[in-house]
Amino acid sequence: MHKPILIIGACGQIGTELTIELRNKYGADNVIASDIREGNDSLMQSGPFELLDATNYAAIEDVVMHYEIDEIYLMAAMLSATAEKFPMRAWNLNMNSLFNILNLAKDSKINKVFWPSSIAVFGPNTPKEGTPQSTIMEPSTVYGISKQSGERWCEYYFKKYGVDVRSVRYPGLISWKTMPGGGTTDYAVEIYHEALKNGHYESFLSKGTKLPMMYMDDAIRATINLMDSPAEQIKVRSSYNLGSMSFAPEDMAASIQKHIPDFKISYAPDFRQQIADSWPSSIDDSQAREQWGWEPRFNLDQTTEEMLKNLGN
Ligand SMILES: NC(=O)c1ccc[n+]([C@@H]2O[C@H](COP(=O)([O-])OP(=O)(O)OC[C@H]3O[C@@H](n4cnc5c(N)ncnc54)[C@H](O)[C@@H]3O)[C@@H](O)[C@H]2O)c1
Repeated sequence: MHKPILIIGACGQIGTELTIELRNKYGADNVIASDIREGNDSLMQSGPFELLDATNYAAIEDVVMHYEIDEIYLMAAMLSATAEKFPMRAWNLNMNSLFNILNLAKDSKINKVFWPSSIAVFGPNTPKEGTPQSTIMEPSTVYGISKQSGERWCEYYFKKYGVDVRSVRYPGLISWKTMPGGGTTDYAVEIYHEALKNGHYESFLSKGTKLPMMYMDDAIRATINLMDSPAEQIKVRSSYNLGSMSFAPEDMAASIQKHIPDFKISYAPDFRQQIADSWPSSIDDSQAREQWGWEPRFNLDQTTEEMLKNLGN
């Protein structure tokens, strides 16, 4: 039987689906969901839930002791677009929550940690196409700075204290169960909702803004595969590049038009354009593929089919 798992930030876009998948795999009572707010019905009804603040070390420690938690997935964070509005709050949340979990592992109160990084760790001076695992990283957003610092601390805790911490740099994630939480790639979810509701979408990123993206099922599978892999296979202890597909808003529009021929897209770029312009267009994820067998399954048209089918119901 798998030892108990705690998800912190379980009610968000990724946490909701991750919690449900882990519960299917390891049993509902073995996976404790937590967040500072309650989640949607499917999450709340699927197993145990605790209200928990990721910045409160003592409260997390209590939950860890109570449920004899072995692994933590830390999904609580302030995302890229929101973080630009509240820089210090973002820094405090993103860093303090990570230190809390790394310190619990350092003190042997838990054995394994998953913490997500992002393509936001890269910056305007990073090679844009086929961005390598190790390259120039000069992030220009608060969010990117916090993720890059987080990566350095993860590697430090692994090397210095032997903490078994694992991480991927998620690209923009596309999903239908939960709305995205204030990121620069949120357009790639909103577009499907608007296509079905109004037949039109006004994109806050301009035509030609090509970004790395991934369907949520692939992201969840990558996360669980990484956590299930033997420790000696995990050579990268900062965070793995993780790729799937890359496209611009007009490519999404064309994919949607195959199902909704009258669908129209227009463009009104806002402050998020500058963030997107500083990020890579495509990712070299060969180390994840070689070291723990990563392989994406969903391309853009398959994603569109899944999104329209599930949102249209
Ligand atoms: N969604 C993406 O496209 C994407 C891409 C790259 C990286 N990531 C990373 O993945 C992780 C999860 O992202 P997401 O998209 O699910 O985010 P989200 O905003 O949808 O969810 C975050 C959750 O954390 C909770 N939270 C906020 N403050 C908290 C606190 N103090 N204590 C406990 N919970 C708190 C929120 O209530 C929310 O439910 C984040 O680290 C994010 O940076 C996401």
